[in-house]
Amino acid sequence: MAVAVYPGSFDPVTLGHQDIIERSSKIMDKVIVGVLKNNSKSPLFSAKERVKMLKSVTGHMPNVEILAFDGLLVDFVRQCHADVIVRGLRAITDFEYELQMSQTNRVISPGVDTIFLTTNLKYSYLSSSIVKEIAMYQGDISAFVTPEIALKVLERAEAVKKGARLAE
Ligand code: PNS
Repeated sequence: MAVAVYPGSFDPVTLGHQDIIERSSKIMDKVIVGVLKNNSKSPLFSAKERVKMLKSVTGHMPNVEILAFDGLLVDFVRQCHADVIVRGLRAITDFEYELQMSQTNRVISPGVDTIFLTTNLKYSYLSSSIVKEIAMYQGDISAFVTPEIALKVLERAEAVKKGARLAE
């Protein structure tokens, strides 16, 4: 059985992420989406909230599981008995960082390979950071995330602007 881990921050999950999950779930027997818990990027949503949001947008894919993880990705991959890591590549600007990560992961854990899916052209410019930035100004994010996620992001962005603390 071919198992893949698709790791990321998913703060929040975008249509670009959903596209990668959907496509990898058709190639692999099982896809485990790994949500990084202790993110140095000060996430808008807690890991628990991000897991919940991912579960709600992937509920129709029976071979997709959502789990939070802490620590090294390669350790999580081993715990999951996964064969590969899946990452999306949007543009050449992603390449250097992704290459560095995949090479490092293979050095510290020989045998852990990364496969890349090129992002759907429709979403090649899209990132969670851009979505959050637009949301901070209560802009229209409906082209980037599902309506349900958009509501949550706009609500959280408004709360943060009013002084609410960021998620831990
Ligand atoms: O969505 P992101 O923020 O680009 O995902 C980055 C992620 C979670 C894949 C990366 O930061 C990661 O793997 N973090 C876990 C810690 C780790 O293993 N670091 C070494 C990677 S070379």
